[in-house]
Amino acid sequence: MGYTDKMLRDDALKGKTIVVTGGGSGLGKAMTKYFLELGANVAITSRNLEKLQGTAKELEAETGGTCLAVQCDVRHIDQVEAMHKTTIDTFGKVDVLLNNAAGNFISPTERLSANAFDTIIDIVLKGTKNCTLTFGKHWIDTKQENTNVLNIVTTYAWTGSGYVVPSATAKAGVLAMTRSLAVEWAKYGMRFNAIAPGPFPTKGAWDRLVPGDLKEKFDVSKKVPLKRAGEHQELANLAAYLVSDFSSYINGEVVTIDGGEWLQGAGEFNMLEQVPKPMWDMLEAMIRSKNKK
Ligand code: HXC
Ligand code: NAP
Repeated sequence: MGYTDKMLRDDALKGKTIVVTGGGSGLGKAMTKYFLELGANVAITSRNLEKLQGTAKELEAETGGTCLAVQCDVRHIDQVEAMHKTTIDTFGKVDVLLNNAAGNFISPTERLSANAFDTIIDIVLKGTKNCTLTFGKHWIDTKQENTNVLNIVTTYAWTGSGYVVPSATAKAGVLAMTRSLAVEWAKYGMRFNAIAPGPFPTKGAWDRLVPGDLKEKFDVSKKVPLKRAGEHQELANLAAYLVSDFSSYINGEVVTIDGGEWLQGAGEFNMLEQVPKPMWDMLEAMIRSKNKK
């Protein structure tokens, strides 16, 4: 078995309907593919209907599953409500909401207009709020239990990060929403969890976060203790587990999947990795010499 193998049994999501926002590309597409392989019906949503329809057709052909493409800009509550209705009309019910849609780009914060900042907050935080309220209220009204919401955040949701401040602000809000509703809405049979991915190369993210030569500087083999980027199937395995009934007792959790990246940046002395091995004899001798009373 390798880390890119598929983890769950073939029927792990049979009978479930899952909505994946931003499911037409990148990580949303990878997770959707695996959900379909595990027997779920999946509705994918984003602004670009043509792209969604292409993805749905491709994934249906590859997996034999049923994938519905629904146009929806998550910033607008009326579009979210319409998307929810279309999905229910098609599949009869929804069991899982995966808030994956996002907007992001690197920029010194002082270069941002108010609208640029708002745009990211509106997609990431307000979009997650719009979907969560719409789906959650419906589950409460219809007394549908055994439902769950999975939110995709990132590790700077708790560390913060310069140059992506609107995204960090919004993801921190999504994480707070995850943990808050995990407690408040557990009584309605809902679970809330999050995944914090480290670097998983996608076109959408890389075009906006590491344009041009920055790719060399953002070399993940240097930033990640495990010396590699994440594979999409690794994330899909984790997401499938967290939305499945196998994780029924996991609620309010954020699972980091980053090869140890954020801790490498955080640990006070982790830079000592740069010290060549032979130099440790000299350093140890210097330290021991100071121990003499
Ligand atoms: C400064 C910028 C800008 C830039 C846009 N703006 N790009 N400001 N630097 N590079 C400003 C615009 O001038 C405008 O402000 C405002 O932002 C909105 O821009 P629009 O182009 O009108 O917005 P829209 O068409 O809605 O597009 C949204 C977008 C775009 C976020 C700007 O990049 C997008 O569609 N992104 C979706 C996919 C995406 O971002 N994927 C990456 C997720 S990666 P004014 O004031 O001029 O009107 C991710 C990874 C996290 O989240 C962790 C990684 C480790
Ligand atoms: P991506 O392919 O650009 O995915 C973002 C998706 O969001 C797109 O499909 C986009 O589709 C959709 N979207 C954007 N604005 C929207 C809106 N207003 N309404 C509805 N959908 C919208 O990038 P990705 O790398 O796969 O990112 C997926 C998720 O993983 C995001 O939450 C991101 O923050 C997170 N993440 C990624 C990484 C990474 O290394 N890739 C690391 C940490 C976290 P349309 O353009 O068609 O609307």
